[in-house]
Amino acid sequence: MKGKLTVDPSNQISTIDERIYGSFIEQLGRAVYDGIYQPGQASADENGLRQDVIDAIKQLNVPIVRYPGGNFVSQYKWEDGIGPKADRPTRLDLAWKSIETNEFGLHEFMNWAKKVGTKADMAVNLGTRGIMAAANLVEYCNFPKGSYWSDLRRKNGQEAPYRIKTWCLGNEMDGPWEIGQKTAYEYGHLANEAAKAMRAVDDHIELVACGSSSMDNPTFGDWEATVLDQCYDNVDYLSLHRYYGYYNDDDPTELDNYLGKNIDLDQFIKGVVAICDAVKAKKRTNKTINLSLDEWNVWYHSNDADTKVKPWQKAPHMLEDIYNFEDALLVGSLLITLLKNSDRVKIACLAQLVNVIAPIMTDDNGVWYQSIFYPFMQVSNHGKGVALAPKVDVATYQSREFPEVPYLDSIATYDQANGELTIFAENKNQHESLDFKTQLKDLTIAEVIEATQFYGYGPKEDNRNGQMKLQPLSTQAAGDQITATLQPLSWNMIRIR
Ligand code: AHR
Repeated sequence: MKGKLTVDPSNQISTIDERIYGSFIEQLGRAVYDGIYQPGQASADENGLRQDVIDAIKQLNVPIVRYPGGNFVSQYKWEDGIGPKADRPTRLDLAWKSIETNEFGLHEFMNWAKKVGTKADMAVNLGTRGIMAAANLVEYCNFPKGSYWSDLRRKNGQEAPYRIKTWCLGNEMDGPWEIGQKTAYEYGHLANEAAKAMRAVDDHIELVACGSSSMDNPTFGDWEATVLDQCYDNVDYLSLHRYYGYYNDDDPTELDNYLGKNIDLDQFIKGVVAICDAVKAKKRTNKTINLSLDEWNVWYHSNDADTKVKPWQKAPHMLEDIYNFEDALLVGSLLITLLKNSDRVKIACLAQLVNVIAPIMTDDNGVWYQSIFYPFMQVSNHGKGVALAPKVDVATYQSREFPEVPYLDSIATYDQANGELTIFAENKNQHESLDFKTQLKDLTIAEVIEATQFYGYGPKEDNRNGQMKLQPLSTQAAGDQITATLQPLSWNMIRIR
């Protein structure tokens, strides 16, 4: 089989906002406790922050991390997590039926983010709380001094304001599972009023309103239109969430379908963009609302186990999906989809980062990397500069849900700052290798900096034994062309200058 990518540096989708390589830490399961924070663990610092986990996250080059939830935030009182630890209350976390000791809170998270070299994407509770709790949190975090909440922050040890820029107005407020679920009108009105108060405290902040928590929710579409009708002028982004699962194990063709689910994400993104722009037209405004895909990943492996988790434990093993090779291929293709939509998707958070549906897993002794770690690491480190509109010529196949899935999924990014062009390419063919050619326009290749392939593992094979690794890919480069053989079911990256 043959496949060709044509790359023209003048045909650009957009400058890539590096926040599309964000991730998510929720106070849930072992993400915080026994994940990023484990006092007494061998690599933990004097504040309990695990250095081995920080080192692993640094490899993923994550520029922004959403916190503290997720469903957790809709019943959270942020004031519980500040001040002397001995005075912090232990609470029932009603979202996940766990015990929350509040040992880890706002300051601990911000200290951790500083050590990681990432920024906070802070969520406020619009489920059970409202306008002033949100505005007070902005004052606590961002106001310099001389007011009740800013001076309390200083008293609690943080003199300089944190200056958190990106804020989420609640979480999944359309979901029946959410504590404090609202109708679209109720939520849109509340989000607008909270946004006004939060911006009154700090007009440098950016605000993300909740879109649908899934394209499958019955309110999808109407939800976006109604919410934006209420809050369009006072927010900057609309969120969307999407998780994928593999549910037809008995059907031998299901893998073909699974690997086509990037098409679903593309349709979801384009659908939400269309609604944002319809509201824009209706409002006769020049302001454009961009998207924050602030939860996305594969999530289904742990569903059965989670039904057996005993309630009211601290740091229970929950949502601990063990990812396999086919998940890594899907994640790679979803990342290409983000790049293809980088004109409108400006923030995205791989959900989540540590232990909970995560690329990084911990135990008391150390960390290990899941299969999905590898494509994410490569795209977040090298998918920089501008995303170039891909012209891909390749055969397609039909699957259960998708009439036309291209066997080759590919895109190139061009980083003008260092003259580097990076090609990401996935061969979805289970049986045949693919003769891959990239044809460059107005560019010549001086050097192949790096070429790798991720392949050779069984679709259901996971990385608990640590055997997965990126291997060198042999390429032939001359003038304005580069060729390589892409193995069946493989994820590949080629960097040239
Ligand atoms: O990421 C896990 C959960 O998925 C989040 O708490 C929630 O927002 C979503 O339903």
